[in-house]
Amino acid sequence: VIKMKDVDLANKRVLIREDLNVPLKDGKITSDVRIRAALPTIKLALAAGAKVMVMSHLGRPTEGQYEEEYSLQPVATHLSSLLGQDVPLVKDWLDGVDVEAGQLVLVENVRFNIGEKKDDEALSQKMAALCDVYVMDAFGTAHRAHASTHGVAKFAPVACAGPLLSAELEALGKALDNPARPLVAVVGGSKVSTKLTVLESLSKLCDQLIVGGGISNTFVAARGYNVGKSLYEKDLIPQAQKLMADLDIPEVTDVRVGTEFSDTAVATIKPVDQVADHEEIMDLGPDSAQALADILKNAKTILWNGPCGVFEFDNFSKGTEVVAQAIADSDAFSVAGGGDTLAAIDKYGLADKISYISTGGGAFLEFVEGKVLPAVAMLESRAQN
Ligand code: 3PG
Repeated sequence: VIKMKDVDLANKRVLIREDLNVPLKDGKITSDVRIRAALPTIKLALAAGAKVMVMSHLGRPTEGQYEEEYSLQPVATHLSSLLGQDVPLVKDWLDGVDVEAGQLVLVENVRFNIGEKKDDEALSQKMAALCDVYVMDAFGTAHRAHASTHGVAKFAPVACAGPLLSAELEALGKALDNPARPLVAVVGGSKVSTKLTVLESLSKLCDQLIVGGGISNTFVAARGYNVGKSLYEKDLIPQAQKLMADLDIPEVTDVRVGTEFSDTAVATIKPVDQVADHEEIMDLGPDSAQALADILKNAKTILWNGPCGVFEFDNFSKGTEVVAQAIADSDAFSVAGGGDTLAAIDKYGLADKISYISTGGGAFLEFVEGKVLPAVAMLESRAQN
C-alpha cells in the first residue's frame, strides 16, 4: 500500500479517517487512548502544511439522523486541548469544508450519513470529492467495509495508509507471521461464542493458549466440574473439549468465587472441584494465576485479548492483575488489544511495559483470525492501479 509518509501533503486537502470511537460516560471521555494514538498522524499532516479534515464514527447511532449523544463534540474539544490548537467540529460537511493549510477540522460522526454502513457509492464519491489525498488510519474500523473506510478509498485521487494503521499492521504481523516462539495467546472475556473463531485460529498458531474469564468457565465445565451460577456456555462445551484435545490449554486448579455479581461481593478461594451451586466463579485463584504467570515468563511472543476475571470488581481483579503483570514483566514481544484489555492495562498502570497496544477491538480479533480487513484490501488494490 502507499504510505502517507511518501505522499506530498503540502497545501493538499487531506481527509484522514481515524477511529475516534472512544468510550463516553455522561458526555465525558473515559479513555482517550484512541485519540492519543491518532495524534502523531494528525501532527504529521499539519506539519506538512496540509489542509486537514479528520473523520470518525462514534458509537452506533440511528442512520440518517443527528443524535447529540453521538456527536463528536467531546472528541473535538479534547483533541483541541491535546493539540493546543482550535479544532472546529463541522456538522454539515458533505458538500464542502473550509480549511486552511496547517489547520484542522473534525467533521461530524460519519454514521449520521445515510449509506455510511452500506458503503454507498454516491456517499463515498462525495467524501472523495472533499480531498486530494485520503488517509486511512483507523485500524480499529478497518474490518468494516463502510463508505468512510472503504468506498472513499476507491474514488479519492490518492488513497494511502496512515502511520497508525501501518504500525498496527506491522506489530500484529510481527506477532503472527513467523513469531519468536513460544507464542502464547491469552484470550479472556465473557463468552466462548464471540471468540470461538479466534480461539480456533489461535489453536493452529500458538504453542499455548490461555483462556480466562467467562470463557475459562466453559472450559472448567467441559472438564466435568460444577460451575454453580457462573457465566458459562453449555452449548459450547463440545468445542471447548475439542480445543483442549488439540492444544495445550493450562488447566485452572483454583478459583475465586462469590455469591452475587457485585463489586461488594466477597471473594472466596476454592479448589476448582469444590464450587457450590449457589456460587459463581469470577476470577482465577492464586495458584492458577501463578501457573499462568510462570508460562508467560518463558514466552517469546504474547498476544493478549480479554481479561481473566471480573477485574472491574477489586475483589475479583487479582487474576487479571497477575497475568497482566507477568505479560508486562516478560521479555516477550507482547501485543494487547480490545477495550477491556486496555482498561485493565490502564488500571494496573502497565501501558509502558507492553510492546504494542493495539487500538483495535473487533479489528484486532479479525486480524488474528487471518481475515482480510476490507479497508486494507482496498488500499492494496489502489496501490496496484
Ligand atoms: C470498535 O470500537 O471496535 C470500532 O470502533 C468499531 O466499531 P463498530 O463495532 O461499531 O463498527
